Order: sequence, then C-alpha cells, then structure tokens
Amino acid sequence: MKHARSPPRLGFLLLLLIVLIAPAAVAFKCPTVIDTTVPGTDWPRNGRQPDDPPLGTMVDVHNVLSRCPDITTLKLRVTLLGCSEGPDRWTFPFDQAGSSRYPSSPEVLSLEGYHFHESQWEEVRPPPFSRGDWLLDSISYYLNWIISGRAWMWAKWNIFPDEQWRKTNLDLWVDAMDFSRIRELTLSDWMKHDNERAKLLVSRLPPRLPALRSLAVSGSWATDLISSLPDNSLRHLSWISSNQTGDSLVDILQHHSTSLESLEWRTPETLARVREALSPDQIRSVAAAVPSLKHLTLDLNRNGTWPFAELEAIVTSFPRLTNLTVYLEMASECRRQAPPDYQPQRGYDHRTCEGPDEFAQPLLDAEAAEELFGFVAGKKVGEGLEEMHFRAGDWLRPWDGPLYFQDWLDGRKSWATCRRARDLGKGSSDSGRDARINVECAGEYGLDWSDSAPWELGHEEIDWEYLVENDGLVDPDDVGNKL
Ligand SMILES: *[C@@H]1O[C@H](CO)[C@@H](O)[C@H](O)[C@H]1NC(C)=O
Ligand SMILES: *[C@@H]1O[C@H](CO)[C@@H](O)[C@H](O)[C@H]1NC(C)=O
Ligand SMILES: *[C@@H]1O[C@H](CO)[C@@H](O)[C@H](O)[C@H]1NC(C)=O
Repeated sequence: MKHARSPPRLGFLLLLLIVLIAPAAVAFKCPTVIDTTVPGTDWPRNGRQPDDPPLGTMVDVHNVLSRCPDITTLKLRVTLLGCSEGPDRWTFPFDQAGSSRYPSSPEVLSLEGYHFHESQWEEVRPPPFSRGDWLLDSISYYLNWIISGRAWMWAKWNIFPDEQWRKTNLDLWVDAMDFSRIRELTLSDWMKHDNERAKLLVSRLPPRLPALRSLAVSGSWATDLISSLPDNSLRHLSWISSNQTGDSLVDILQHHSTSLESLEWRTPETLARVREALSPDQIRSVAAAVPSLKHLTLDLNRNGTWPFAELEAIVTSFPRLTNLTVYLEMASECRRQAPPDYQPQRGYDHRTCEGPDEFAQPLLDAEAAEELFGFVAGKKVGEGLEEMHFRAGDWLRPWDGPLYFQDWLDGRKSWATCRRARDLGKGSSDSGRDARINVECAGEYGLDWSDSAPWELGHEEIDWEYLVENDGLVDPDDVGNKL
C-alpha cells in the first residue's frame, strides 16, 4: 500500500519535465542560410550550437522553412549515405490541401536528389483494376488499400478541386514559397531522371524565376530549361554531362547570347570511352554565339600531344576572355581498355599497360602548365588572359553512397593554376612566345606510379613560385588566390 502512490507521482514529474523541456527543444534561432545533407547527424558534430535549428531530416528542414522569414540560401542534398543510412523522405511534407507556407523568398536555391515529381495522389489512388488479375488478388489489393489508410486519404482528398489533389510536390512547393527572388539555381544529380520529370520542371519553373542569373545543372534534360528561360537572362551557366554535341550546344547558347559571361560545359571522365571535346571550328562557333564570355571552362583531350589547335581557337576567338579552365582526361587508351581491377580478366597481361603508360600523354606537370600558359597568353586576342586552370582526372565528390566498385580513376587528379605575374621580374620570365608575359604557376600532380606506393600524390617543385603548403591535397582555388 505504501508504494501504491509513487508511480503516478513519478508519472506526473515526468510529464512536468516534458512540458518544461519540450519548448526548449524546439526553440531555435532562425538561420539565414541552410546548407544541409539529409540524412544528417548534425548534433553535436559539425559545430552545431544548441540554438541552431535541427536540419538532419526533411521534416526538420520543412519546419525551419515554415517558420523562418529571412532565409536567403537553401542548399539541400537528399541522398543515401553509406550502406544503411537513408533520408526520412525525398520531398518536403507539404499539405496536399495547399495550406503550407514558407515565409522566406530565397535568392540561392541548390538541390540535389529532391523528388519534385512525387505526387501523393499517385500513392493513394485506388489500385488499378486489370483484367488479367485473379479475383482474389484484386480483392486483396483493395483490402490492402483500405487497411493501409490510403482509401481514407483518397476519399478525403476527393473533396478538394481536381487540380489541387493532383498537384505534384513541385506544384505544392511553388504555391508555398516565393521563387521570384532566386538569382542562383543549382539542380544536380539529374542524370538518372527521365524526360517526364524534366518536363514537369521545365513547365513550372521558368515563369517563376524572373530574377535568375546563374544556373548550374547536370544532365541532358536541362536543354529545355535553359532554352525556356527568358532570352538573354543568364549570366552564368554551368552544365555538366549535357550529352550535347558542339552544334546543339551552340543552338542552346544562342538564347543567352548577349548576357552570358561565364560558361562551364564539361563531362566527367569515365573509363568507358574517350569523352567528346569541341573541335577548333566548334570552339569558334561557340565564341560567335556568346561573344561576351569572360570565364570559360571546357574539356580538352590529349592524344600524345597538347591540344594546341583548340587552345589557339579559344584564345583567338573570345576577345573578352580573361579566365580559362581546361579539364583533361587522366587515363590513357590502354588503361581504358584494361579490365577493371575488381574484375580481373584471365589471360590479360598487366604489363601491357603499366607505369606512365596508364596516363594520358603528355603528362600534366608544372613545366607543361607553364609552357602551355605561356603559349595561350602569348596568342591571346583582345583582353589579356589573367589566369588559367588545368585539371586532370577525377573531380567528382568521393562516393559516399551504398555498394560501389572502386575504379582506377577514383581520387586521381592533377591540377595546376597559372596566373600572369602582376609584378614583372617576379616569376619566370620568357615563357612561351611572348617574352614580356611573366607567369606563375602552382600545382599538384597525381602521377606517381611507383610500385611500392599504390597511389600517392606527387608534388613537383620547380624553381618558380610554387605554393603548395602541405602534403595534403590543397584546394586549387585557394592556391589561385594566394598567387
Ligand atoms: C546521349 O545522346 C545520344 C544521341 O543523341 C543518345 O542515344 C543517348 O542515349 C544519350 N545518352 C544519355 C545518357 O542521355
Ligand atoms: C592529335 O590530334 C591532332 C588534332 O587535334 C592531330 O593533328 C594529331 O595528328 C593527333 N595525334 C595523334 C597521335 O593522333
Ligand atoms: C577563374 O575560374 C576558376 C574556375 O572556374 C575559378 O575558380 C576562379 O575563381 C576564377 N577566377 C576569377 C578571378 O574569377
């Protein structure tokens, strides 16, 4: 009897504790920038402070967006992480009835992995009846539909007007948020998506993006998006893996002919085949289509010699270009044809492709970069070329998803950054053809093929200014800034 009362008292105390703690747990300081990956385990790692909002799930991010009025930047990646972690959902949980509101009007929106096309209507509608099914099967589909609660939701939604309950997640999002101030839009990871989904984006987004100036996309679906934005609205375009030929690229770029100042157009290297690169004539056509270009990033290929003709076409046909970046392939033809390491092939003799033979030639190293920059800077027509970046190999984010076979390219990269020396007399003189152009380069060269170390980044130090400060990989952009 004596103990009979204590459990309720304990329960009361717990309840009190929850009532006191709960508001503290949901209280957070509204951010102006959201930059998060879902699933995220951001507490307390990543320097998260107690009053920072939780942003590790889609529901978390949705709650923050629903409450905070001053978010200028939303960067979100939804993904599978490692072997077992996945997001709680692939979309924000908007109310199908249309009551959701996001009070912010962001200027920067960057999304990766978001499932715009999802439609709750598709999920809850009655199972399709097909003649081939057994009666018992059909009955069990319907029973399942009813027991799972989808039938109830479907019935509930039928009271909304037709166009409301058929809305996709993207439709609900554009109803909930003001898109009209977005200046920068990034939609990556779209290579896997089909044209139906692309059509949805292309039909909904362009009219709502009057302020858009900078677009970064990947995948061939983006053709229609780029062409349906208002003419001459884009200043910056980055388009990865477009699967366009040089000629179709020119047609698409015409839409932003007078506005475009920077263009990145490239495809990450794979071992499957040599990637397409523009010919000198195609380079000249691109230049004619976008004559105001100041920054250009392109793929060029080496085939035993440097692509001098292509480089010359670039520097003689873009008069306003001051900053050039070229991506080069890392693997040689014999490396491409060798069987992958995870799938050894009987009878294949690895000695047919080893050491330096595995790499595209000529090798990208400090001396080569200096020589090439001297060459192009000396030929430049119009404004002088201020800087040039060389990047070879694998520049993708290291794989962090489920099951994956490593490939020879993974993590192998070389780069060099060259700038015109500001102060004559500094850096090396008489490089290239024009002895007046002084250049400085810095770089890091992943070309070590010694047998003892399977893979190590090599450094090359030349007597001109060289600024790699430690043994780790340094961000080339940082080095560029220090030069
Ligand atoms: C790239 O384009 C070619 C021809 O236009 C087409 O056959 C191929 O399927 C496309 N590849 C991708 C990944 O879209
Ligand atoms: C490499 O390509 C250039 C043109 O881009 C050509 O002139 C040269 O003959 C090619 N070299 C080899 C070894 O194929
Ligand atoms: C030149 O282009 C590179 C690569 O796109 C970029 O990292 C760099 O910041 C640019 N330089 C300037 C001065 O804008």
